Formats: sequence, C-alpha cells, structure tokens
Amino acid sequence: MPALVLLGAQWGDEGKGKATDLLGGSVDYVVRYQGGNNAGHTVVVGDQKYALHLLPSGILSPGCTPVIGNGVVVDPSVLLSELSGLNERGVDTSKLLISGNAHIITPYNVTVDKVTERFLGKRKIGTTGRGIGPTYSDKINRVGIRVQDLYDESILTQKVEAALDVKNQLLTKLYNRRAIAVDQVVEELLAYAEKLAPYVTDTVLVLNRALEENKVVLFEGGQGTLLDIDHGTYPFVTSSNPTAGGACTGAGVGPTKISRVIGILKAYTTRVGAGPFPTELFDADGEALRRIGGERGVTTGRDRRCGWFDAVIARYATRVNGLTDFFLTKLDVLTGWEEIPVCVAYEIDGKRVEELPYSQSDFHHAKPIYETLPGWSEDITKAKSFSDLPKNAQNYVKALEEMSGAPISAIGVGPGRDETIEINSFL
Ligand code: GDP
Ligand code: IMO
Ligand code: MG
Repeated sequence: MPALVLLGAQWGDEGKGKATDLLGGSVDYVVRYQGGNNAGHTVVVGDQKYALHLLPSGILSPGCTPVIGNGVVVDPSVLLSELSGLNERGVDTSKLLISGNAHIITPYNVTVDKVTERFLGKRKIGTTGRGIGPTYSDKINRVGIRVQDLYDESILTQKVEAALDVKNQLLTKLYNRRAIAVDQVVEELLAYAEKLAPYVTDTVLVLNRALEENKVVLFEGGQGTLLDIDHGTYPFVTSSNPTAGGACTGAGVGPTKISRVIGILKAYTTRVGAGPFPTELFDADGEALRRIGGERGVTTGRDRRCGWFDAVIARYATRVNGLTDFFLTKLDVLTGWEEIPVCVAYEIDGKRVEELPYSQSDFHHAKPIYETLPGWSEDITKAKSFSDLPKNAQNYVKALEEMSGAPISAIGVGPGRDETIEINSFL
C-alpha cells in the first residue's frame, strides 16, 4: 500500500495536520499537492505545539522527506520564515524538496487578493488574503511565475512584465492603487533564489522513483472537499483541488498508484469564511463547540463557524474522493452533551433530499433534518481502544460510519499524537 491520500472531508480544519503527523513516523515522503499558506495546521507533539502553513506536516518526523509538489502555490517569504522558525526550535528541515514547477505567490498577487475582496463588498468570499486565488488565476491565464523562473533573470523579468501589464492597469484605473514596479518585484524574487536553491528539484521524478521502490508516500491535502474549486460550494471555495484527484495532478503521480484515500472528518462541522453551511448554529451550542473545540483559525485568527455533524456532506466526500477510510477527529469535544443532533438529510422546498444538491440555489436554502443520538459525559481523552469508549460514544461513531459510507479507521480523542484510537491500521 505505498501511496495514501489524506484530505479534508468537510470545509477544512478537520485535523489533517495531526493525522499527517501521526502517520509521518511510518512514511517515507509527505507531499503537499495543492493550496499554499492559506492552510493552517496545528500539530501537537508532547508539550510542543507547531503551527504549519505551507510545509507538509511530515516535516516534524525525522525520517520523512517533506515535498512541496507542483500543484502548490509558494510564498517564498512565508516559506523561509516557516523554515527558520522550525530550525530555531531544533527541527531539521534540510530534507525538504520543492517542485520547480510550483507557482510563486508574488507580492502583487497578495495585493490583488486584498483589493478584489474589498471590491466584492457584501459578496466577498472571506479569503485568507494570502494571494491564493490570484496566483492560481495567473497560472491558468499562463502569466504565472514558477519557482524555476527564479533561476533565469531574463525570463523572470519578461514574465513579471507580462503579469503586471494588465494588473497595473486594473490597480491604477479601477482599484485606485499605485502601480507596482517590475524591477522591484524582480529584485525581491531574485533575493529568494539562492536561499531556495538547495531544495528545488524535479519532485515528479523523485516521487515516481520512490513509488517504484515501494517507498510509502503520503499526499496531504490542504483545505477540504467542500472548498474544492470543482466540487465545493462554488464560488465560496478555494482556488485549487483538495479532492483526491488533485493529488495526481498536483504531484505528477498517476491514479493507478494511489492505494488508499483517507478522509479526515470532524465529529461536528466548522467553516471559516463566507458561504452556505446548513447545520451552522447561532446559539449557545455553537458557542460551546467553538469554545470547547478551540475553533479559531490558525492562519487568520478568525472564529470558525460551528455546527452539528452533517452526514450528507460526509457521503458526498466519500463519493467525490473515493474514500476508503475516515479518520474521525475531535470526538472528545462532544463530551457533555446529553443529546447530539446529526443531520441525516436536507429539506429543500418542502422535499426531503438525501444527497448534496448540485444546484447552488437549492443548497443555499437547504434545511437540516436531524436525528438525535444520546450523548455521554465520561472523559474519553484517555481511551486507547474502541471498547474504552462509553457505549453512547461507540454508538455515535457507528452511526456516523453507517451514514457516511466508509469505515472509520481512527478516532481522535485529543490534539496530541497519542490521543488517538486506531481501529484499522492505515499502513
Ligand atoms: P487542519 O487544518 O485540518 O490541519 O486542522 P487545524 O489544525 O486547523 O484544526 C484542528 C485543531 O484541532 C487543531 O488545533 C488540532 O490540534 C486539534 N485537534 C486535532 N485532532 C483533535 C482531536 O481529536 N481532539 C481535539 N480536542 N483536538 C484535536
Ligand atoms: P486548512 O488546510 C479552512 C477558506 C477561506 C475562504 C476560502 C477561500 O487549514 O484546512 P483562499 O484564501 O483559499 O482563497 O480562501 O477558503 N480556506 C480555509 N478554510 N481551512 C483552510 O485550510 C482554508 N484555506 C482556505 O476561509 O473561505
Ligand atoms: Mg487548518
């Protein structure tokens, strides 16, 4: 089973960082395949807490080679400060590999992200403001800057000129901002070239060779299924493909190589930024989930919107990703509720709907239909096996599994590496 994909089954922040870190000790490579420093992954190792944005969570496992694949967008200043932050804490980052085909988030992409959000006003997406959308937009428009361009000054200058041609018109004439000088951008980008050089390589070749040698490769998604540009709640999505197919395009590995796809699933639901969220709570329960679950963004510090578990979404994630397993996280957060509602279907225009509607208008006014499951009050954070869980917690997990369409192979009962119940081994 050499190639596994680990991805978010909801709207991000499901606990992918912890799950990746947990497996990191047993895998040879951990690969980010999409997104950029819009991601925020918290990993707790012993009494140490790490916040990672761009680096794969496998960076904390000494035997593991972390890889930033071609599908990722890289802000060099963020990358370098993340690396030096880890080095200061004694983490060896020298094994990192970066694809020369990954696109660079330039300073003007960050500017454009911020001004377009401001211009959207009430209709804004609530992006992380990190330049993600504009960088992917440049990539698709074929005016993007790639990591390898840092090593050819003449090409870099031509490309920055081409990218700024239209953008400066927009910035000055539409957005009322100052034009951005080509030379200044080129100079800033060239300053990163030498520092990044030791890491830059043909990661597609490296990963395919590793798979031929039966090495274990873990592809770590950023964001989540419902934030996917194709399969998410468009336009309230990110600008890449966190879903399983993205691992193939974003790392240059064929689909025949992928042996297992693990969906990280929170025992309730959260979302950051704008967009529909049928089970969102605006009452004391929502506030309690936020407080007990520590639901505050790692990247932007925004409070996460919180709601009950939504099985319609989980089934959808199983389908579009071909999930083989779920890793259920944060079950401990639900301790103390007498009863726990779970959304099993939606009501749309008076009709019961079992699956995610493809029409955006329908989804925007989908009302959750709840079934209520009995809760538990015992502390579960020390549970090491499924049978250690109180009966009602076991039944909650079994009910979620039945509704969601794939086996739950691990359960998180706390943020630490060892606060995990393993049911089926992932490797
Ligand atoms: P990611 O973006 O998917 O990696 O998730 P985040 O790191 O943004 O958010 C998940 C948060 O939940 C982090 O603070 C984790 O430390 C924490 N966490 C992960 N798994 C568990 C769990 O099983 N129980 C609890 N209580 N916290 C967890
Ligand atoms: P991790 O990897 C949760 C959301 C933003 C916004 C939308 C688009 O930690 O799960 P973008 O800056 O990507 O153009 O913003 O996507 N978003 C996330 N929400 N977790 C994330 O990452 C996210 N990355 C982006 O809030 O609604
Ligand atoms: Mg996160």
